[in-house]
Amino acid sequence: MVEEHFIPEKYTKSIESGSFTWSSPSNIALVKYWGKKANQIPENPSISFTLDNCKTTTSLSFSKKEDTTSFAFEVFLDDEKKDDFKPKIETFFKRVEAYLPFLKEYHFKIETSNTFPHSSGIASSASGMSALALCLMSLEKELSNTNISEENFIKKASFLARLGSGSACRSLEGDLVVWGSHDAIKGSSDLFGIKYPYQVHSNFKNYQDTILLVDKGEKQVSSTVGHNLMHGHPFAQERFKQANKNLSDLISILKDGDLDKFIALVESEALTLHAMMMASMPYFILMKPNTLKIINKIWEYREKSGSKVCFTLDAGANVHVLYPEEEVNKVLEFIQNELVAYCQNGQYICDVIGLGANKI
Ligand code: PMV
Repeated sequence: MVEEHFIPEKYTKSIESGSFTWSSPSNIALVKYWGKKANQIPENPSISFTLDNCKTTTSLSFSKKEDTTSFAFEVFLDDEKKDDFKPKIETFFKRVEAYLPFLKEYHFKIETSNTFPHSSGIASSASGMSALALCLMSLEKELSNTNISEENFIKKASFLARLGSGSACRSLEGDLVVWGSHDAIKGSSDLFGIKYPYQVHSNFKNYQDTILLVDKGEKQVSSTVGHNLMHGHPFAQERFKQANKNLSDLISILKDGDLDKFIALVESEALTLHAMMMASMPYFILMKPNTLKIINKIWEYREKSGSKVCFTLDAGANVHVLYPEEEVNKVLEFIQNELVAYCQNGQYICDVIGLGANKI
């Protein structure tokens, strides 16, 4: 499938004004996307767990306008006007205009809120961009005469979300989503995320993710800059090969429910992501001392208890603690007793693998 496929036929209907609301979850990658080509095409395929409690809810209100030469919109976060969000959305609109040719015909009011604490260090770009893409798709659906299937609706929404923030294309469905073309994964594409199409062992049912908020400050290096530093990176090609292999290996791990192999693969992916950052030029470190303390505590606890708890990281200092549902009580006790001390203001968020976005 090619990009042109997402250019719509001429709209047959007209709609003056209205509003749509979608709520979309965040996701956490098991095999990481780090490095991209032009137009948000990933250098390697990735796979993530969709989350459930960490969500963004976005309402898009629209009304027709006379002047169709430029975009017109306002953004609100928790009822507060956020002009600093506008450049990112303007860039998004420019990137998707060819696929949503109505964008300049309306004035939009975008009202958004997150379930996770504001500036918790949890990226809202994945959940936020996917919720916005879904609202825009709802409007397109009203404008079109042809009935778009649910599958194609989600596919195009994921395609659009990717143009807002790469990993956002993995936030529409659950509970495992693959983005990026991979020979062993049927239907996988660089253009949008797909639901993981193979068997998943019951060990992964309701898998838990407790997010330890180690550092809630602004990241010193954005993921856009980080991705770009993979161009000319001395280890880039090996890393892209490794991600492909890890995704292949994960197929049998997910099928057999082999938690030891799962732990080794997921933790290695997290540390490799951060190793790539440290080996970039200029180099940078997003982990904090408490990130390392937590990792060591998790290793110690696993060693002495035989628990199947493990960690992963995104592009920041926070730690995602992953574990099977049957260990909930024990791991939460361990977190309370031994890890909370390393969290900023003792804060953490309990989440679980989820099923994707919802129209409200
Ligand atoms: O979607 P972006 O451009 O913010 O990049 C996300 C990159 C990681 O979160 C580090 C990895 C991933 O696959 O989600």
